[in-house]
Amino acid sequence: MLLTLSLTSLLCQADNSAAQLAYRNAVTPPPPDWNGPVFQLSDAYPTTPPATCDSQQCPWLGYPASLFQTTFGKDGVPQWDATWNSYIQSILSYIREGQSDDLNNAQGFNTQVDGKTRWYSVPWMAYDPTSGREFIHGLTNERTAVLSDFHGSRRNLHGLGANPHTLVGATDSQARFETWAVAYYNDVGAYSLGQAWDQQGNPRFGDYQGVPAQSGMPFATGTVVVKLLFSSASPKDVPYLHGSPQWQADRHVEKDNQFYCERQPQPVHLVQMDVAVVNPQSPTRWVFGTFAYNGDLGGKNVWENLSPVGLQWGMDPWTFPAVPKSASIRARQSVLNRDNLNVRAEHFGCEGRLAGPVDNKLSSCLSCHGGAYANKAGNSFFSGAFSPPIFGFDGLCEQYSQDNSNYFQTLTFPMQPAGGEYGQLLNLDTSLQLQIALQQWSYFQRDKVPQACVDPSS
Ligand code: HEC
Repeated sequence: MLLTLSLTSLLCQADNSAAQLAYRNAVTPPPPDWNGPVFQLSDAYPTTPPATCDSQQCPWLGYPASLFQTTFGKDGVPQWDATWNSYIQSILSYIREGQSDDLNNAQGFNTQVDGKTRWYSVPWMAYDPTSGREFIHGLTNERTAVLSDFHGSRRNLHGLGANPHTLVGATDSQARFETWAVAYYNDVGAYSLGQAWDQQGNPRFGDYQGVPAQSGMPFATGTVVVKLLFSSASPKDVPYLHGSPQWQADRHVEKDNQFYCERQPQPVHLVQMDVAVVNPQSPTRWVFGTFAYNGDLGGKNVWENLSPVGLQWGMDPWTFPAVPKSASIRARQSVLNRDNLNVRAEHFGCEGRLAGPVDNKLSSCLSCHGGAYANKAGNSFFSGAFSPPIFGFDGLCEQYSQDNSNYFQTLTFPMQPAGGEYGQLLNLDTSLQLQIALQQWSYFQRDKVPQACVDPSS
């Protein structure tokens, strides 16, 4: 039995077809002596549209549109109140169904709820040997954080404009922590994924109301996306992580503050849980929200220690730096939970917009996700600037500029990016995983094999 398994994995490794690379579980299979959990890509996408989640199962869909007309508190900022708290907690309850109380390493994130697959993965995210899925939980490597990201002592620019697909070399002696994450779409969202990608691993293109689009777009009402972010920081580095789920991740080996291509199973801790839902009452059709893990809350389980950071439903295009300071009004399309014990003001995003504890503080959820575009079918991802700079540019959030104005525009499907400088692009309805998938697919068209990881030069 063992022999058959390892033979199969050897054979699979040698198979460099698009289908195999798109739908493989991880960049490398587990070693033969591995007896821990093994990630299985959840890719049996529904082939008929699932019934829209009703407001019984998805209570956040039952709120009136007036919810998104901001109420300002005494301090003049949008008020985090019991309604917003119930809104975000109802999303968390839906995500919690079928999961263990402690989100333990052995079970990881269960894709089945009540014997039925609820959660699905995006293809092509195990293609890139540098940042692609690891074999234990399917985590991918993201922006590397520094300690101040967790405590908010200063605004730091690290990671700004960084290409997430290269390893970060040390430029000073500051300790760096890797971020590894995994995201899932629920069945409603996964129907779109199955339309967008065929079983041979190729994208399907069509049009939506006369606008070129990847098939299956936009995501339907009832779509829920969850993303679990883990850090190599431990409770010793960041005390409020005590009791946080510790998962194993086959991640980069670190020597002298630098991360290398070699991977080894090492512990990571849950620091942040992002959620995104399609809710037609929102002016962008999407609502993004995030939770920070906080062991100081003393909850009975992990879920009770997830502290809401805030919600965002627009990019606040009337607020600095999308407009000059003299013309700016207070941000009103994010509501931030300023009582969140360990997430200080510096931990929110640009000028009162929402970003998460391990995100770039000069950005915001929807401004970055609003940049989810790809070139039209047939165009490559590797010929220069193919879409707006999601990870930032010089002066992001610093001064009023055309770039900032474009970055903080409210964009909805199937709108083109502001500024008109990229020609016609495919709007991917906020999905940056779809953008990565299309990018990896286009690299595959060019190279036929994944590009090897390159160690940072010391
Ligand atoms: C500076 C850019 C940036 C910011 C800011 C950002 N994200 Fe993302 N997000 C990404 C990228 C890149 C991915 C795809 C990579 C992945 O999931 O591993 C992603 C993936 C996701 C996904 C999975 C679905 C998808 O779109 O691919 C969710 C859900 C998500 N982010 C929510 C959030 C929330 C909530 C916030 C704010 C608290 C946020 N993000 C802030 C860059 C960003």
